[in-house]
Amino acid sequence: MKDYIMALDQGTTSSRCILFDRKGTVISKAQKEVKQIYPKPGWVEQDPKEIWASQYAVLKEAQAARDISSGQILGIGITNQRETTIVWNRYTGEPVYNAIVWQCRRTAGQIEQLCRDGLASYVTSRTGLIPDAYFSAAKISWILDHVPGAREEAEQGNLLFGTVDTWLIWKLTKGRVHVTDYTNASRTMLFDIEKLCWDKKLLNYFRIPESMLPQVRKSSSIYGYTDADLMGAGIPIAGAAGDQQAALFGQCCFEKGEIKNTYGTGCFLLMNTGADRIVSGHGLLTTIAACDGDSIQYALEGSVFAGGSAVQWLRDGMKLFQQSEQSESFARRVKDSNGVYIVPAFSGMGAPYWNPDARGTIVGISRGTLKEHLIRATLESVAYQVRDVIEAMREEAGVALDRLKVDGGASANNFLMQFQADITGSPVYRPDCIETTALGAAYLAGLAVGYWKSKSDIRANWQLNCKFTPNMKSADRDDLLKGWRRAVSCALFWAQE
Ligand code: G3P
Repeated sequence: MKDYIMALDQGTTSSRCILFDRKGTVISKAQKEVKQIYPKPGWVEQDPKEIWASQYAVLKEAQAARDISSGQILGIGITNQRETTIVWNRYTGEPVYNAIVWQCRRTAGQIEQLCRDGLASYVTSRTGLIPDAYFSAAKISWILDHVPGAREEAEQGNLLFGTVDTWLIWKLTKGRVHVTDYTNASRTMLFDIEKLCWDKKLLNYFRIPESMLPQVRKSSSIYGYTDADLMGAGIPIAGAAGDQQAALFGQCCFEKGEIKNTYGTGCFLLMNTGADRIVSGHGLLTTIAACDGDSIQYALEGSVFAGGSAVQWLRDGMKLFQQSEQSESFARRVKDSNGVYIVPAFSGMGAPYWNPDARGTIVGISRGTLKEHLIRATLESVAYQVRDVIEAMREEAGVALDRLKVDGGASANNFLMQFQADITGSPVYRPDCIETTALGAAYLAGLAVGYWKSKSDIRANWQLNCKFTPNMKSADRDDLLKGWRRAVSCALFWAQE
């Protein structure tokens, strides 16, 4: 009987389950969208129970689709939307509030206060992060401040905090295991990424009792076993990593200097910096990378908040098409965006601008603007934002980027990938398997249980699907970029009011 590794990929827009074989081939896959809740402009929530129910449903569906028994699954790897914050009662398992999603801006005021209190450089030196509402710390503290009785309950040791990996592991083990991994801990803005422990000063500042926090472990290790009632067997949960670090691992960027970009809800460009904890002067984050051994590796990250979500907005908000894939054929129907630029700053702007108040902006509309131009401008905006981050990375590292490995749903869009290569001036490499996030989680779990023996087994699985070579005159690129910069300044100008 064949055996497999299961990856649970709990992303912002959907829960997915993928079963992989030793070649890293997708054997079975199931996916379910998760409802987004927008209580106020700039606020984003999800229901933690729905996160769990959808994840468990796709797990069962992926097994049933290929009639794969739990005995054939040698390990489970978990990967997740990062920073999203869940607080629940340790005895009843009831969440005390909805999950506050990473994109949510409700705590921007708390972060401004933190900066006024003179803590910004302390945060960066300990956590590697630029203080922002994006991270979990202020979200936890908001829940404790706003849910009646929550702070007292937390102080009495009755509440637990977790990012989504922690919540899923807790549910899969029926409340026996409360853990996270280094990569997820490094996104809370509470974790000292050098000493590898929760930072007491930041916990005090945010008034978060340490008893709420999960134990932090390596990304590739056995955290616990699934409850037999849920899976019919105790399967080792053997890997966990935030989705962007999992994708870096899945792309086999094991060596210092290797870079990938994932086109998911947002876009996240990560460069492996090995044992070097580089502090950025260009708006990038320092974070812990996923690795299989005992040593710690770091990464530099450029986080773009709106990528695939901009295409989703065209589909669901503007109703310009029914399937995201159609965006490619619409974009190709026109020769350019006809001077239109869209800056999809729906929830502020991340790297390298870090402005929580910037909002979506469309400029350059004329009477001749067609729906196709808007669609094309939106796809181009994704590539422009990634290019801005690549520039910051170039300046930081002082080296030219000779290739960009890509993955994630929107990397299937050939128009977008070619425009990315053109506007960046560097070739873009897309692998056969663009489910790299899930694959990375599977690799971390599979290495821990001996399914794969070493990283060289894994490297052999990486196969090129398509290389996109830059094909734009540099004068044309410069003109387009000039327009993009003006459009960004409009989005930032709006933020000043
Ligand atoms: O930091 C947020 C990130 O983890 C979200 O990833 O794949 O849902 O865009 P994704």
